[in-house]
Amino acid sequence: MINYTEKIPNNIDLGRDRILQRALEHWQPAFLGWWFDMGPTESRTYDVYLRTAVSVEPDGWAQFGYVKMPEYRWGIFLQPRDEQRQVNFGTHKGQPAWQEVPGEYRSILRRIIVTQGDTEPASVEQQKMLGLSCPSLYDLRNIFQVNVEEGRHLWAMVYLLHRYFGRDGREEAEALLERRSGDTDNPRILGAFNEPTPDWLAFYMFTFFTDRDGKFQLCALAESGFDPLSRTCRFMLTEEAHHMFVGETGVSRIIQRTCEVMKENKVEDPDKVRALGVIDLQTIQKYLNFHYSVTLDLYGSDVSSNAANYFTSGLKGRFEETKLNDDHKLTEAGYPVSEVVGDKIVTKEVPALTALNERLRDDYIREIESGISRWQRVIDKAGIPFRLTLPHKGFHRAIGNFAGHYISPDGQVLNEGAWKNHEFDWLPGPKDHAFVQSLMSGRVTEPGKFANWIAPPARGINNQPLNFEYVRFN
Ligand SMILES: [Fe+2]
Ligand SMILES: [Fe+2]
Repeated sequence: MINYTEKIPNNIDLGRDRILQRALEHWQPAFLGWWFDMGPTESRTYDVYLRTAVSVEPDGWAQFGYVKMPEYRWGIFLQPRDEQRQVNFGTHKGQPAWQEVPGEYRSILRRIIVTQGDTEPASVEQQKMLGLSCPSLYDLRNIFQVNVEEGRHLWAMVYLLHRYFGRDGREEAEALLERRSGDTDNPRILGAFNEPTPDWLAFYMFTFFTDRDGKFQLCALAESGFDPLSRTCRFMLTEEAHHMFVGETGVSRIIQRTCEVMKENKVEDPDKVRALGVIDLQTIQKYLNFHYSVTLDLYGSDVSSNAANYFTSGLKGRFEETKLNDDHKLTEAGYPVSEVVGDKIVTKEVPALTALNERLRDDYIREIESGISRWQRVIDKAGIPFRLTLPHKGFHRAIGNFAGHYISPDGQVLNEGAWKNHEFDWLPGPKDHAFVQSLMSGRVTEPGKFANWIAPPARGINNQPLNFEYVRFN
């Protein structure tokens, strides 16, 4: 018998829910099997200085201590219930928020939860090998922290499937452990989650760009009229903030180190910068272009009847829905979307209800822009005349109105040949990947040491010093 509160920290009264216990008794060993197969390579016996959530109270969601990752206490936490909460948008606006799944929306709600849940184990799979080339113990600890929390996010979605969807929920929960990132026969559901994360620059870009898509999706689901989904997503957002921090500061530290070396040696030519063992700013720009464009696709088609349905039925809201000042039904409003006509990109107004994917993408882009300007400041401070730019929204897109078109980063509509001629000026090519890999051939494990291509962080984790032993290899 499992002692549930001990093994699985939770605030859902798991100790009394026999049906849920039985479901988890089957699923939990399968989850551990998945972790052993697809979690971080060779990490089983390591003691890692991790934060574990043990309650939703301010002092309970961030407890630090050494943990072996397979023994991490994957918990189930929902933000406490607000008895007054209502459905805040769509046709059911003003009704009490749903505590059980509304029968008519059962299958689309299940689909939404499965799609979100699928991204969580996918990113762990994508990052599986990176521990073997970590630039420091601090960074190694951070990637492991991200990995266990993505594992916990999977638990969060699996809880909803088990608790609210009966047998088909259980089947979906099993399938979440069976798909594999990048697998040709049984891939993860969304494109960006089947791309490899081959090196640490890619990892930081991923956590900056793609975990931020996670944030915006969770924010939209946190508005849901289905209250258990809303409360689950609200708690997940507290953890997502750390993942984006890891990404933003990781890229920033790489930029900082490159700028230091460029200044010390008075070099600007990318080949000479590379020869000094740091990543040239041009390559960083290419990685940025790649991760930004594949992440934009995650928001789906610019015009989408599914998105309209999710909203009208009260299941998925807009970013900060309850802070917006309108009718929350969108029966009259319009919204601009872009499309390619001939060799021009034109903007047209469509019903706002159908443009909700595009709107969420635009909210996301605004936040990305301010992150990029923080990276730019590091370059400006060093006095180096290089500008990081966000490519045009239509660049390198595979989903939506730009799919099938060849748009340059500055927004020119090109033909396929012209675009292909420049492909590796804009996106990392095999040579760029090989160069970045060459910097990351081994791991740096001495406490307080950092690889040459990255600057140390401003401070350690949980007020620990930089030379703290964040991971013990045993
Ligand atoms: Fe997550
Ligand atoms: Fe995340």
